Parts: sequence; C-alpha cells; structure tokens
Amino acid sequence: MAPRLFVNVDHVATVRQARRTVRPDPVEAALLCLSTGKVAGITVHLREDRRHVNDDDVARMKTALTVPFNLEMSCAEQIVGVCLRTHPEEATLVPEKREEVTTEGGLDMRRGFNRVREVTRRLRADGILVSLFIDPDADAVKLAADAGASHVELHTGRYCDAPPEARTHELEALHDAALVAHRLGLVVNAGHGLSTENVGAVAAIPNMHDLNIGHSIIARAVMVGLARAVDEIYAAMQVAPRD
Ligand code: PXP
Repeated sequence: MAPRLFVNVDHVATVRQARRTVRPDPVEAALLCLSTGKVAGITVHLREDRRHVNDDDVARMKTALTVPFNLEMSCAEQIVGVCLRTHPEEATLVPEKREEVTTEGGLDMRRGFNRVREVTRRLRADGILVSLFIDPDADAVKLAADAGASHVELHTGRYCDAPPEARTHELEALHDAALVAHRLGLVVNAGHGLSTENVGAVAAIPNMHDLNIGHSIIARAVMVGLARAVDEIYAAMQVAPRD
C-alpha cells in the first residue's frame, strides 16, 4: 500500500501574507484538499517569525480538521507553548534558522539532543505524537529513538536535489535509514522537495507511513487554477454597464 499523503499548506498563507489580508485562507485550502478524499492529514509549519502561517491559523486548523493535524515546529519555548495549547495529533520537530528560505537540513541530533529529548518528552506526556525531522543517517535515527520520538521524518531534500548520477546513492540512504528506524520501532515519514517527478521512488520505500508534501502541490495548484481565475474575473467585468 502506498504511504499516506499529508499536504503542507504553508504556501497558501505565504500568498496571503504578500498582502497581509485574509485570502487565500490556509484552513479553507486544507478543507479543499480533504474534499478529494485522498489526503490523510494536514501539515503546517508555525515559524518563529510567523512569515506564513500564524497562531490564529493553527487554532482554526485544529478546530476545522477531521483528519490528523501535524504541526511542524522548532524547539523554541514559545512555540512549544502554542503546541501544548493547540494539541495537534502530531508535532514534527525541525531545525529553524531565521534567514533560511525553507528548512535546510535535519535536526542536529548530537548538539541538540538534550533539548529535543526534553521537548519530545513534554509533548508525548501530553499525548502528542512526536516526529523528528532528520537526515537519512543511521546515527541520527538511533538518537531519535533515544530521544523518545514516536516517528522520524526523513529529509528527502538531498535525494530530490541530487544530480542523476547521485540519485541512486541518495535513495539508498533513505532506504537504509527507513529500515533502521522501522527496526527500532519508529514510524517512518518523509518529506521535502517531493513532486510528481520524484515521489514514486520515495513512496515505494518499504514501511513508509506518511509523506509531507507542500511546495510542489501549491505551485501546481496556481498553474491549474489560473485560467479559471482569469475566466471568473473576466465574466465579472462583463456585467458592468457602459455607455
Ligand atoms: N517536511 C518538513 C519537515 C518541512 O520543513 C517541509 C517544508 O516546510 C516539508 C516537509 C514540505 O516540503 P515541500 O514544501 O518542499 O514539499
């Protein structure tokens, strides 16, 4: 069976924030995704700088969703507080740098171990599943298990960005890490940079549970929806009386 699809709707909010207005609404977008019957969960990343999704979106998402809500977050105390108040079904801990355009790598499980373990314990004590976003590396997987995570999310960015000659090697790293994680009793998710061109090989990795996919879906939605949006505005212009 193929893994489940979780859609990351952050970039709906990115478009909204370009005008600091209320549309497009990431919650409305999430419900549209669910209306396909193909989406098992919704993911958003509440960044410390709130550059796209904000606290109100997170609260409304939790109320509106009838499927698991996966909150991506750093270990910053303020964000941990939002998570504990919101109580999503799952939290994915990610590294976060203010200047980055998107999450650049997996968690540094060696340097950050104590804080990751502490946050993991607090969230899990509250009944929240905790996934750690890590590079596909056996040592990082073992440290994720030691930190008490229920899940790992394997970073697929290196595989997705690899030149053709390095693809097989990067895919093997994902396979190996997924196997180690599965043997340690961790649920295995993956994500970052996945698109219709590269998702097949990742979806075929044994024991892959959920794939988190955002940018390629929202980017494609703009393209498949643009002609209709032009039609609608054009039709609205035609009713204006002129002399
Ligand atoms: N998983 C994690 C941990 C992420 O940080 C992101 C990007 O927000 C994704 C998955 C989705 O990546 P993309 O937008 O490239 O599909």
